[in-house]
Amino acid sequence: MASDMTILKMIKDKRDGNAHAEDEIRWLVDNVSRVPDYQLSAWLMAVVLRGMTIEETTFLTHAMAHSGQVLDLSDVPGPRADKHSTGGVGDKVTLVLGPLVAAAGVTVAKLSGRGLGHTGGTVDKIEAIPGMTCDLSVERFKQQLRDIGVVVASQTAELAPADAILYALRDVTGTVESIPLIAASVLSKKIAAGADVILLDVKTGAGAFMRDDQSARELATTMMQVGERLGKHVACVVSEMGQPLGTAVGHANEVAEAINTLRGEGPRDLTDLSVALGALILVGGGLAKDREEGEAKLRAVIESGAALTKLAALIEAQGGNPEVIRDPSLMAQPRFRIPVEAPEAGYVQALDALSVGLAGKEIGAGRLVKGAPIDLAVGVMLHKKVGDWVEKGETLAHLLVNDESKIPTASQALLGAYRIGGEPATPSALIKAVYSAERSALK
Ligand code: URA
Repeated sequence: MASDMTILKMIKDKRDGNAHAEDEIRWLVDNVSRVPDYQLSAWLMAVVLRGMTIEETTFLTHAMAHSGQVLDLSDVPGPRADKHSTGGVGDKVTLVLGPLVAAAGVTVAKLSGRGLGHTGGTVDKIEAIPGMTCDLSVERFKQQLRDIGVVVASQTAELAPADAILYALRDVTGTVESIPLIAASVLSKKIAAGADVILLDVKTGAGAFMRDDQSARELATTMMQVGERLGKHVACVVSEMGQPLGTAVGHANEVAEAINTLRGEGPRDLTDLSVALGALILVGGGLAKDREEGEAKLRAVIESGAALTKLAALIEAQGGNPEVIRDPSLMAQPRFRIPVEAPEAGYVQALDALSVGLAGKEIGAGRLVKGAPIDLAVGVMLHKKVGDWVEKGETLAHLLVNDESKIPTASQALLGAYRIGGEPATPSALIKAVYSAERSALK
């Protein structure tokens, strides 16, 4: 059959370091639901190892974006914005930023993903809220934008379906860490969702798929170039993911932390990053003249309670119970809260986000096989982070667990994430770089 020959040829071509033609990439994306997982996985791994040219990445992004509908939001009041993170540990920024900038007058049309590798996904986190769904029809997506100005949806059969298939396979085949695959996955969703202000948060550090600033910059540049070739202005921020963001890593506990942050009581790093990214969106959308003005507007929106009210509207619109805002214990709770104690006194010098993410995965917060259910109640609460002083025996973190048998290994893994020493330490800067093709709009 011609189709079998095409995929086999593509696997071999990529294995040997050759570039694909546009029609081959289009064929692959058009047939992604028919190609067996083992062949798709082999092709994905060949891309991880051999890379793609900027042309191939652009063809792939375009084909994936057009695997479903590409929304025309011109009948929805603007500015229309979308933000996406390339993946981190404890990264619940979307849950804060969406309602926050929507309360400040931006229309937020957000297409999110599930957990990937050791990182969490917004769609999974949202499912911790009883009744809430991200599986929305295009009609409902657009109506919700008109009604409340914010929507957080997942890929569906109608929106970027090819990404849903490839994403779920990459999660369990060690094929996440690839600049062209990440760029195509992220941008295809952003293009399909139709926003005109696109801000990408490229994570760098131990807990990110890009471990160092150089590769994060490369990913940012690739996404901006692909965006430009496809007629979309894309701005990128490179931000710190050496240690987890905030104090909660998991699902229900991350939602609870996002609620606290919108109430003005969240951890400093999460609040500052959400406000900083939100300010860039306000500037990009013409609602603030510079970042300072944008940040001031967003802090006022938190203080007035408008951001929290917008979150309640978002939860309700997507079928969830907004009572979780008042009572987060309505979300799934773990059976055990196990303290992990400091073996010695000292300063926390490092808190390895990857190890924290893997400890979470060990207790059921991530998937080991495609489509597996995850435990939305489990996770980690971090009480000490980089720069904090800790006494011997003091609690560094709590493991939130349901499966008792996992406690020893996960506790060990969590403890191993900490490096404690006598020298004071300072956390890295949250935002390392801001890139924009139209720099003036994002200063
Ligand atoms: N987020 C995505 O949507 N895709 C990736 O590949 C990585 C992060």
